[in-house]
Amino acid sequence: MKKITIQSHLEVYDDMHELPQDARDLMLKAIEAREAAYAPYSEFHVGAAILLAQGEIIKGNNQENASYPSGLCAERTAIYYAGANFPDVQIMAMAISAKAKNKETPDPIPPCGACRQAIAEYEVKQKAPIPLYFMGGRGKILKSASLENLLPLLFTHDYL
Ligand code: THU
Repeated sequence: MKKITIQSHLEVYDDMHELPQDARDLMLKAIEAREAAYAPYSEFHVGAAILLAQGEIIKGNNQENASYPSGLCAERTAIYYAGANFPDVQIMAMAISAKAKNKETPDPIPPCGACRQAIAEYEVKQKAPIPLYFMGGRGKILKSASLENLLPLLFTHDYL
């Protein structure tokens, strides 16, 4: 028996002002998207913004449903839009912000497992890392240089 160690490294930014300009602009779009989230059941609002290679920014937010499992997370709303409408354009970065209506969310809030798997699909497809910036409603921002850094041992098409 042997053991292996898998490590993730992330960058921590104290607040939005510390981010480079392009990342700050993208996070502002994620916040804008978050403010338009449709989340009447959880009252947990999430916004995502994706920067495409030609400079276009795609926004997505969580879309809930009275039939709860029919809803969709912000990250997947955004990335499926990008995949559907810009299938051949490289995704350069993604920013995410999440805020609960009745609770302070000062800590960085990472994408859920299902969204990581969905984003991974596009990272593998484009053969280039997707840097991810994520935060709560305010405060610190974490940056992961790639999706795989957040989801080691990816399940990909290679196994099919
Ligand atoms: N949600 C997201 O939009 N992204 C995530 O990564 C985690 C959760 C949404 C789904 C649901 O509308 C609400 O947040 C509460 O789970």
